[in-house]
Amino acid sequence: MIKEREIENKIVKTNDIIITSNEVETKMEKVQEMSMIYRSAIKEITTKLEVLDGEFKVKRKRNPIEYIKSRVKSLKSIIGKLERLDLEVSCESARSNLNDIAGVRVVCSFLSDIYEIAEMLKSQDDITVIAEKDYIKHPKPNGYRSLHLVLEIPVFFSEHVEYVPVEVQIRTIAMDFWASLEHKLYYKTFEDVPISITSDLKECADVIASTDRKMQEIQRKVEKLN
Ligand code: GTP
Ligand code: MG
Repeated sequence: MIKEREIENKIVKTNDIIITSNEVETKMEKVQEMSMIYRSAIKEITTKLEVLDGEFKVKRKRNPIEYIKSRVKSLKSIIGKLERLDLEVSCESARSNLNDIAGVRVVCSFLSDIYEIAEMLKSQDDITVIAEKDYIKHPKPNGYRSLHLVLEIPVFFSEHVEYVPVEVQIRTIAMDFWASLEHKLYYKTFEDVPISITSDLKECADVIASTDRKMQEIQRKVEKLN
């Protein structure tokens, strides 16, 4: 019996902070609960998007959403971001300081679909808009385009309600193509990137934006034919 208790309270030493295994267990439970809360919020937002996509399909005979991707930020990224921002590293701190723990990426067919989907989501009674950044009307200097929303959504659990922020990025397939490749090119590139490369990437982003506008015009013409 004494032996078991000794094992239970075994001292774990990590980065010079001494914690007992019971404390480790409590922290792990907190992380699991946090992850479950954000996963649930992603489900709620994704269902709303699927409902809107389905309704659009019935009324307008096409799906405005090509695909939806989602992720809960990894523990490593959460800790990294809190440290970068010089904030306390804890579940409580992550929950109150980070709005991008739950992320949903909505990839649409045409430019107008982005704004229609965004407006439809934003106008729902249970959703609160926490932040909005329009990198389509105001692209980033590197050419990055997307509409970013931080939406707060209630998630109903057995005995309480959690109001959870979800970062929603809405973009066209063309914008997603550019952002995915740009991310891939820069991922793990820590050195200064030559100006010729950044300007080539910016040029690609601008060509893509012009193609998006052209595709939108074509879509409008085709819609008039029907
Ligand atoms: P983070 O600390 O990264 O969350 O940035 P932020 O709080 O300034 O928010 P912002 O809206 O600028 O970016 C949030 C997310 O958008 C990023 O995590 C990326 O997923 C995406 N993003 C923003 N800028 C770029 C970019 O230049 N290239 C790519 N590929 N993705 C971007
Ligand atoms: Mg982020």
